[in-house]
This record gives sequence, structure tokens and C-alpha cells, in this order.
Amino acid sequence: MNIDDIDHIYRSGRHYDCLFGEPCMPFWLALVKQSGAPVLELGCGTGKVAIPIAEAGFEAVGIDLSEDMLREAHRKTAGRDLPVHFQLEDMRSFMLDCKFSLIALPSNNLSHLLTYQAAEACFSRVADHLEEDGVFVIDAFVPSLWLLTKNPDEDEILSEYDDPDGKGRVSVVVRSLYEHNTQIRRNTTIQRTEGAPDVVGHLNMRMYFPQELEALLHYSGFEISGKYGGYDKEPFSTTSSKQIILARKTNWPTKRLKSSQPANAV
Ligand SMILES: C[S@@+](CC[C@H](N)C(=O)[O-])C[C@H]1O[C@@H](n2cnc3c(N)ncnc32)[C@H](O)[C@@H]1O
Repeated sequence: MNIDDIDHIYRSGRHYDCLFGEPCMPFWLALVKQSGAPVLELGCGTGKVAIPIAEAGFEAVGIDLSEDMLREAHRKTAGRDLPVHFQLEDMRSFMLDCKFSLIALPSNNLSHLLTYQAAEACFSRVADHLEEDGVFVIDAFVPSLWLLTKNPDEDEILSEYDDPDGKGRVSVVVRSLYEHNTQIRRNTTIQRTEGAPDVVGHLNMRMYFPQELEALLHYSGFEISGKYGGYDKEPFSTTSSKQIILARKTNWPTKRLKSSQPANAV
């Protein structure tokens, strides 16, 4: 994997952990308790979801493209007897020797699939690795008009934190341009540390519209068993800012057989 393919904020696991807050673990743990293990997390980063799942006693595997994010995940779990395993893999092409009861695509990771063909490739890998009664969970934001029409010259502060190596206060500023043709929001990230030159990088995120995502899942052989607007499992509505989807594999052969039977068949 070429380092240029990895968005800048994922090139240092230690900075990443300072940049963003914690995922909603009560939501994920409730799902895992229902589905059982093993659990696969796609784009596990530094292990913010996979490690608490393993700490709750469930076997978990996390895959990610960024060696540095995985290094941090390994550091956090080193010497602890946790049922968790991390592996360098691309979620568009992974092949593991195991099937899973739950496969999670959390934390807006869906947006890192930059084309619908990349989403199809990923969903096909998911279908191959999911137990017949397993569940595929996607946690993504809804592309809002506000997000898509932002002035590309306007700076937005993404995060401010103390440098993990004690080099001072860091602020990460972002400028975004939405492309109508690719549905990609191209973010320029500027990392500013006191007394150091700015580090300019990129963060590309494809926007997935709710009906488009439903169609992609449908044509990839999944049916939706739950759709929520937030972690409290409130119904997905006209004003939801999140789209949380629980999908199961469609049992194509059984369905085809049933519908192709004549009405009077016994
Ligand atoms: C927003 S972070 C989420 C990390 C973690 N799930 C969390 O909640 O903190 C997205 C992660 O997806 C990874 N990623 C992006 N594209 C990927 C791909 N094609 N295959 C595997 N991982 C990918 C990035 O390296 C990054 O670690």
C-alpha cells in the first residue's frame, strides 16, 4: 500500500487517538451480546471498538490499511491476554480464514470506500465472511446540505489537543470541497503545532445517500433488518444525521426456489 493512499489523519495512531472521541460502546456491546462472536471490525484503526469488545470477553478481529494505526492497536493490547487480533488488510479485498457472527463498519468508515465499485467489493467480501445468520452493521453519517455546500475557502477546526510527545498544543483545521460528479468531499487538513511548520494533508470521504446505500446493499445480496437514526435506536427519520443499518444476507437460493414453484405445488 502506497502511503499516499492513506489519509493524513491515519498516518499516526497516537495523534488519531487525540483527535477524535470514543465510539459509542454501549451500542456496539449490546449488538455483540445479541449476535455473539467472533466479531470483525473493518477499518479498526487503533482498536477503539475492537479492544472494548475483546475486554468484554468476545473474540474480535480488526483489519486496517494503516500500519501506524495498527501499531498503536498492538501497543495498547501488548502483554494483555485479550481475545483480539489485528491484521493489515484492505476492506475491499480481505480474505480471512474465518466466518463472523457480526461484521462492523463503524465510525463513518463507509466514506473511505471512494467509489460505488469499492463499496460493492467490500460488501462482497463481507458476504463471504459472514455466517449465514450473521449481521453486518454500518454506522455512517447522512450527507447533509450544510456539509455539501460549505465554502471551500472556509477553515473549520476539526480538533485541538496536546501533542502526545509534549511538543505543545496542536490544532487540526480542515477545508472542504464537495465534488458533485464523484460524490467525494475532498478535505484538506492542516495540522498546526506551536513553533513547527504546518503539515498539510488530505482526507477524502465519499458521501453515501440513504437510498443509494440501501440499493447497494440490496444488489450486493443483503436485506435490511434494522435502520436507525442514532445509537439509541431511534427510528431513521427525515431529520436523522446518522444512518445506522443492520443487514443480513438475503437467502437468494431459497427465495428463488420458493417463488419459482407453481402456486399449486405441494
Ligand atoms: C475513522 S477511522 C476509524 C477507526 C476506528 N474504527 C475507530 O472507531 O476509532 C477509519 C479507519 O479506516 C481505515 N481505512 C481506510 N480505508 C481502508 C481500507 N480500504 N481498508 C481497511 N481500512 C481502511 C483507516 O486507516 C482508519 O484507521
